[in-house]
Amino acid sequence: MRIVAALLALALPLTAAPAVPAAEAPAIALSSVVPAPLEVRQQGATFRLTDRTVIEAPRSARNVANRLAEALRPATGYRLPVVERARTNKISLRTDESPGYRLTVTKSAITIGARDNAGLFDGVQTLRQLLPPAIDAATPQRAAWVVAGGEIADRPRYAYRGAMLDLARHFHTPDEVKRYIDEISRFKINYLHLHLSDDQGWRVQIDSWPRLTAVGGAPGTGVDGTGGGFLTKADYRDLVRYAADRYVTIIPEIDMPGHVNAAQVAYPELTCDGVAPPPRTDTAVGYSSLCIGQETTYRFVEDVIRELAALTPGPYLHIGGDEAHATTEADYLAFQQRVLPLVAKYGKTPYGWNEIDQAPAAKDAVLQYWNQKPTFTPVHASKVVLSPANRAYLDMKYDPSTRLGLNWAGYIEVRTAYDWDPTTYVPERAVLGVEAPLWSETLRDLDDIEFMAFPRLAAIAEIGWSPRKDWESFRTRIHAYYPRWENRGVNFYRSPQVG
Ligand code: ACM
Repeated sequence: MRIVAALLALALPLTAAPAVPAAEAPAIALSSVVPAPLEVRQQGATFRLTDRTVIEAPRSARNVANRLAEALRPATGYRLPVVERARTNKISLRTDESPGYRLTVTKSAITIGARDNAGLFDGVQTLRQLLPPAIDAATPQRAAWVVAGGEIADRPRYAYRGAMLDLARHFHTPDEVKRYIDEISRFKINYLHLHLSDDQGWRVQIDSWPRLTAVGGAPGTGVDGTGGGFLTKADYRDLVRYAADRYVTIIPEIDMPGHVNAAQVAYPELTCDGVAPPPRTDTAVGYSSLCIGQETTYRFVEDVIRELAALTPGPYLHIGGDEAHATTEADYLAFQQRVLPLVAKYGKTPYGWNEIDQAPAAKDAVLQYWNQKPTFTPVHASKVVLSPANRAYLDMKYDPSTRLGLNWAGYIEVRTAYDWDPTTYVPERAVLGVEAPLWSETLRDLDDIEFMAFPRLAAIAEIGWSPRKDWESFRTRIHAYYPRWENRGVNFYRSPQVG
């Protein structure tokens, strides 16, 4: 497809001039953004980005201005200097009292106002979608860089809009994680949950237990014996910084008391009999458990939580807790009653899969609902992130012909990922937000990640951001987004439902 388009473009000057000269192409409608903005009023003259346009921002918003300049310079070829004051022909970022952000387009200026830099960054993501898709090309393009006049007043429905990436079943490199952050942040996703340990591997350096990564992150520690590797603390800090520069908060997850085979291979004292189990590269679940009655277990858990909390500027630390089928119910409860308070001891809000709600200590925790039942009544916790597996799991196949992915929660075409609402599961007051998990049993590289994530991630992002949903509108808007992914080389799935 891409080659044909390129040939056509080359052929064009030899045949006829385009019917509409590029400079007169209509501006993109302000209502075409994904996720859908709250209030849109299109009116007045368009703004035209030129080689004299400047980006105006106070010193405090310099990071957002730099992100904007980075996004617009390659395809325009313009300098787009970032300045503290300018009179006209400017994109102006300013701190004001707008909840969310407010984007105003007139002939002489585009103004984005917000209370904080995260809001300004959201406004910048909206602006990027209002420029022609050629803006996402990596090299200078000939295009009319116009933005329709009017105003968008926008704010998120939920504070938490997450994505999860599983680094344990197959490791993904820091560069791959950064590329994923680049793409998800465009849809105003603001949390990235990293699943850092499982039966097959351990993917983050822990100084007090070095064999976790020396053994659990060695080559071959992944499904089918492929996909080893781990993040050093320097890698991890760099990722946290990269994400924060894009207003994404990283949430680390260490899964326990189940999903711990890799840790037990590295440290046999984490089993009850002191014997190391064999390494596992298959995809079975539910067979491993920490030894609940043993003090070594809690020394290990506290060391890991302490070191991870020190790497984590964000509020949440995820302790897994799912599928602990090899732990008795009483042991599970005893474990969570000790471990949930440890997360708080190191200054973080405990976060776990919905199973942790069995423990009274989960009352101050955030639950991540991953089951498929259409309603859920938390017993102890009061805040829930919705990730129902049959809607939000990006690793489920789209349909039976999808090469990658699994199907234990069914097939999830784009419309299935879009057509649900958090409040049918739990009451609105209990919803912290939504998250789209991507498990990596079948995924090796960034192409695989992108194919499963897009366009479904955008559907989940819209559920988290926009109070009104409309499939037909989403279908049209996400279809119009396709050239942006093409221009960035993103390997998205071309759903027959989207057209
Ligand atoms: C899960 O999918 N086991 C949380």
